Amino acid sequence: MSTSSRKVEHVRLVASSKVESSESTLFEFVRLVHNPMPGLDLSDVDLSVSFCGGRRLRAPLMITGMTGGHPDVSWINEKLAMVAEEFGIAMGVGSQRAALEDPSLSETYSIARRVAPNAVLVANIGAPQLARGYGVREVLRAIEMIDADAIAIHLNPGQEAFQDEGEPLYRGVLEKIVDVASRVDKPVIVKEVGTGLSREVVAELYQAGVECFDVAGLGGTNWVKAEVIRSRAKHGSPLKPAGGLDDYWGNPTAVAVVEARVVAPRAFIVGSGGVRNGLDVVKVIALGADVAGMALPALRALVNGGYESLRKLISSIIYQVKVAVFLAGGRSVKDLWKAPVVVHGRLREELELRGVNVDEYIREYRLKALLWRVKRESGY
Ligand SMILES: Cc1cc2nc3c(=O)[nH]c(=O)nc-3n(C[C@H](O)[C@H](O)[C@H](O)COP(=O)(O)O)c2cc1C
Repeated sequence: MSTSSRKVEHVRLVASSKVESSESTLFEFVRLVHNPMPGLDLSDVDLSVSFCGGRRLRAPLMITGMTGGHPDVSWINEKLAMVAEEFGIAMGVGSQRAALEDPSLSETYSIARRVAPNAVLVANIGAPQLARGYGVREVLRAIEMIDADAIAIHLNPGQEAFQDEGEPLYRGVLEKIVDVASRVDKPVIVKEVGTGLSREVVAELYQAGVECFDVAGLGGTNWVKAEVIRSRAKHGSPLKPAGGLDDYWGNPTAVAVVEARVVAPRAFIVGSGGVRNGLDVVKVIALGADVAGMALPALRALVNGGYESLRKLISSIIYQVKVAVFLAGGRSVKDLWKAPVVVHGRLREELELRGVNVDEYIREYRLKALLWRVKRESGY
């Protein structure tokens, strides 16, 4: 099956099937302390933040890369970009491999820039394609195609391993990513697709010069699960049964965010994977992300309810974030890094077992990271 037709199948599948992990993000083990006397008006709260590369967003939210690559899904990129433009949030397109293979499909991505001249847009390419021949030339073409502000390189080894026609080719990927990141003048964001970046991988990339990450952790859309469902629908039973790997393998989002921040204190981090509402957004930010990312809910709202339903979703989430910052006693999104946070139960235990001193992280480490950020943004 061609890369292009697979995109249409994926969109149809995830819009209606149960493709989210049974395993949790572990957000339920995070509580921001309520401040019953915020000391400011709700209207004083400013949600604007810098995206990687320095452009400003009006709210700390990104619709992460999903689609493009077939004429039937072009309208999805169009509407997602329109909503990004309207609300001043960031948006990624899906893997641009299809258009790099067949340039006649470029319009299914570039439509995003046409309808969103001012939005922060992120290009997208897969690590296995880099490992097997793509290089700076293709990356630059992907960026140029949508006049992107940054490019995401996705790591999806589990999905490739269980996809019928997958290509689990990861030999030499680190060197390729580092080479591209050092030679392209736009920020490179290394992202997962729903099984989560790990402390070790973020550390390796960060030390090699990569400065932006999207953790895309476990607990939301799970591409191993989606591929198994797709294979079952086609063949009666999956060609490659996954055992528990399709539901219980991966780094939960809450863990992945903290781990990434611990080893990449000055990096720009998108907290994503199972973010479903404003409360989840403030939780990932309070744990150390710069902005939150979300894919499936935006797609489902649009495909099942149309543009108005997508607008409603985004505006509600932004309002929820604003209220949550207010109720945490903050004036800006950055204040969430100072807000008292209770991390308990399994999340605390997992983080400690992974070498994170949770109390120190919450009390001191986030503040240090915040100071660096403020210094950088004010040009010191
Ligand atoms: C329909 C669909 C297509 C996706 N395609 C891509 C892709 O091409 N490239 C990519 O980096 N991630 C892709 N993703 C992964 C998302 O960007 C995101 O990391 C993941 O879905 C987890 O977020 P969620 O739980 O909010 O959906 C896709 C997700 C969906 C739902």
